[in-house]
Amino acid sequence: MPEESEQPEEKSEQAAGRAAAIAEGSSPEQSEQSEQSEQSAEQAERSMRAAHRPSMAAAGPYGHPIHPMLVTIPIGAFVATLAFDIASVLIEGRAYGRPAVWLSLIGIVGGLVASLFGFVDYRRLTKGTRAHAVATRHMILMDVVLICFVVGFFVRRADSNYYLYGTPKIALALSVVGVGIMLIGGWLGGKLAYSYGSRVADESDQIKAHSLSAPSTD
Ligand code: HEM
Repeated sequence: MPEESEQPEEKSEQAAGRAAAIAEGSSPEQSEQSEQSEQSAEQAERSMRAAHRPSMAAAGPYGHPIHPMLVTIPIGAFVATLAFDIASVLIEGRAYGRPAVWLSLIGIVGGLVASLFGFVDYRRLTKGTRAHAVATRHMILMDVVLICFVVGFFVRRADSNYYLYGTPKIALALSVVGVGIMLIGGWLGGKLAYSYGSRVADESDQIKAHSLSAPSTD
């Protein structure tokens, strides 16, 4: 957001603040420093409150983000793909390669849809903050996960005997790498939600649900 230009009243307020600081015994530099830290605390509060709210209705209402609901589909499907890939090379019969193809496709489509909603929440985060940097890393890692499974899908399709001889080794390796990166990306997603509070309700709203005197109506 562009900085507002300094108004004459603001300048006189600052001068009065400096005079008060001198009267209190602190130097003008000290008073300027405390003013700056007050401003940065206000900025952080504004950015955090903005991150609590959806940037558009499609992202889900306040307190009910859609992205965390949708991510269960790619996470479940990709982990199941890896399980079937491993079964396809270990268990006699090797027919487990076939469900792995469909599971990976479900994960890819689910992941693309979930990513759209994640991106909408990402736009709510203020550039230059730690939350924004972690979200950027989360986005990049999850995109790499999707690329692993998309490439793996085409490798499976190119091998017409995959359901007879098990998942091709390259596709199996891509599933291992994809799920591994997903664990790291998912950890960062959890950090965004549970440590940095992206799309959680304000504490003043959360506390109502813990009050005995004002039981929630929902
Ligand atoms: C396959 C793709 C993705 C998966 C599996 C995924 C997974 C996750 C997980 C597990 C969380 C923690 C939420 C919870 O534990 O309930 C999360 C949060 C989050 N993710 Fe993703 N994510 C994906 C793609 C993306 C993309 C592309 C973005 C865009 C930058 C993104 C942005 C976010 C944000 C901002 C949060 C914090 C919660 C929120 O604001 O909704 N995600 N994600």
